[in-house]
Amino acid sequence: MDVWGISGKSVVVMGAGGGGIGTAVCRHLGRAGARIVAVDIDADKLAVCTDELTTSDIEHVGLIADGRDRGVFAGIVDAACELGPLHGCVPVAGGMWPPQWAPFASDDVFFDDVVDLNFGSTVNTVRAVGRRLVEQGQGGSIVNIATVSALNAMPYGSAYAAAKAAVLSLTRSLAVEWGARDIRVNAVAPGSIATPKSASNRKPGDTDGTDLEVIPMRRRGTSDDIAAAVLFMISELAGYVTGQVLCVDGGTSVRPTVNDRDELPVFVHNEELRARLRDW
Ligand SMILES: NC(=O)c1ccc[n+]([C@@H]2O[C@H](COP(=O)([O-])OP(=O)(O)OC[C@H]3O[C@@H](n4cnc5c(N)ncnc54)[C@H](O)[C@@H]3O)[C@@H](O)[C@H]2O)c1
Repeated sequence: MDVWGISGKSVVVMGAGGGGIGTAVCRHLGRAGARIVAVDIDADKLAVCTDELTTSDIEHVGLIADGRDRGVFAGIVDAACELGPLHGCVPVAGGMWPPQWAPFASDDVFFDDVVDLNFGSTVNTVRAVGRRLVEQGQGGSIVNIATVSALNAMPYGSAYAAAKAAVLSLTRSLAVEWGARDIRVNAVAPGSIATPKSASNRKPGDTDGTDLEVIPMRRRGTSDDIAAAVLFMISELAGYVTGQVLCVDGGTSVRPTVNDRDELPVFVHNEELRARLRDW
């Protein structure tokens, strides 16, 4: 039985390679019966994904392309429609690398690059796939990838947070614009996720230990944690959900403001109460 409502349908995953979130999304959607158009700028990283899909007997096409280049999308969407009825897309390509952490006032070089990848490639993917979904008139589903950092401040990473916040804004606007056409547009906002790439994506001085202190569930997420949320959002199980952002972050985004290492909320002023809560 097709519980997810995506069996035999095609989904474009931009940034599918490398064994991280994109690859996990392909795996989860493929296991649910979707046919995958796996796209990545890096041939070696793409092969990590397509080799796994082949081994798992998941129907797919692998394409090497740059999501920042609008010119590539006609071919990508055509390939998806040949594979099966087009259901939607997941623009995963994004991120920020250590040299791109910089004070806003000093950063002339990287801001545009970060926005171009994180917002530009999402815009290109969603516009090309969304346009075809509108033409088909059969509905569809799009799941964008943001970050919990888009919901609050990210000093020295302002380009990344702003670009991902723009992704969330786009998500809401298109949910309304395409709602009557039954094209749902949602986003998943990961917290700190252990991926092959993210191990090298730490600020200087950061360790996994310091990360864990601010995560209520005291562990980093996995690519499969994110992919499971994407599968739900893109599937018919979320058939009445649109314009939403689902944080998959071990509780990071709802963590109260704290003022000491005991992590008691700042509004617990009474020392006796603080001690009692600490000893609980
Ligand atoms: N890993 C985390 O902790 C974390 C946290 C929050 C949000 N995210 C977001 O999740 C997404 C995936 O993260 P990840 O850690 O799996 O990243 P990753 O670097 O492991 O994977 C991204 C893939 O995108 C590809 N790619 C890069 N630029 C591209 C382009 N221009 N066109 C096509 N493909 C391109 C890369 O080659 C790579 O295979 C990103 O959007 C990232 O911002 C990740």
